Amino acid sequence: MKSSLSSLVHPVEVSHFFKTFKNNEPFVVHHDKDSLKELFDLPFLNSLETLINSWPFPIQAHLPDVRDEVSSIDTTAKDAQKLFDNGMGLLFNEAQRISPVLIHWLEDMRKSLGLSAMTYGRSLIYATPDGKGTAPHFDQNINFVLQIQGIKKWKLAPNHSVLNPMTRHTLGQEVDAELMSYLEAPMPSEMPCDALSIELRPGSFLFVPRGHWHSTEAEGDALALNFTFTAPTWIDLLNAAMRARLAQIPEWRETAMVGNEKRFQYLLAGLGEELPHWQADDILEMIESDDMA
Ligand SMILES: [Fe+2]
Repeated sequence: MKSSLSSLVHPVEVSHFFKTFKNNEPFVVHHDKDSLKELFDLPFLNSLETLINSWPFPIQAHLPDVRDEVSSIDTTAKDAQKLFDNGMGLLFNEAQRISPVLIHWLEDMRKSLGLSAMTYGRSLIYATPDGKGTAPHFDQNINFVLQIQGIKKWKLAPNHSVLNPMTRHTLGQEVDAELMSYLEAPMPSEMPCDALSIELRPGSFLFVPRGHWHSTEAEGDALALNFTFTAPTWIDLLNAAMRARLAQIPEWRETAMVGNEKRFQYLLAGLGEELPHWQADDILEMIESDDMA
């Protein structure tokens, strides 16, 4: 049976897609409306009205000031249509909560992509009114977009300021302190001039690489389904393994007393002796054991 990923990148071979995925380059294919039926036939994707009426959770409405999801309010299904009609974009977060089909696609994609079992995968549905969209920004996650209705114009550009960011950032906003600590070059003041323009229409599928600058604008009211993966870095895997290992040692479970550097230094020395014997495959096997089930 075809994997979810191969259906999404069709007619391109998955092996070819992986070249762009590994190079962190955007990828787009346009499907006709008869493919990906399992997704297009999801009843709640039939129209914004149906989606609003079948949504049991709060809906995030994006305030028009900075055209960014950092500036949003939670609203109810009752008010969402009114806000949309007044030019506010809507975000239906974690749509897999209402759809076993989306749970399956997320899990299947995660495994095909080779992402850790620790990955936070979710499905988001964006409803964007005509002429609205998002300001230039980059995300720390890996994102896949399937355009369901309307046209969405995307601009995408490589990020020359930071490689492998661990937080999202919107152009012109304050830079997060940790992100600032590993910036390789100053942030640009506007969307980089080498930005690529891509027009998504119903059936278009886009891979947005982690950290890539992007901005969007809808032409006509638009609805898009996203598969978004916040995958752990090597730092996160080491943190998880370290905690699991050190939790077995009573001395490491002691309350940390500020001023007792001697004790901490003694523990660090013991860790220094042990660390060279750690094996990457043992750690991965422990962390990914969920996948063996
Ligand atoms: Fe984004």
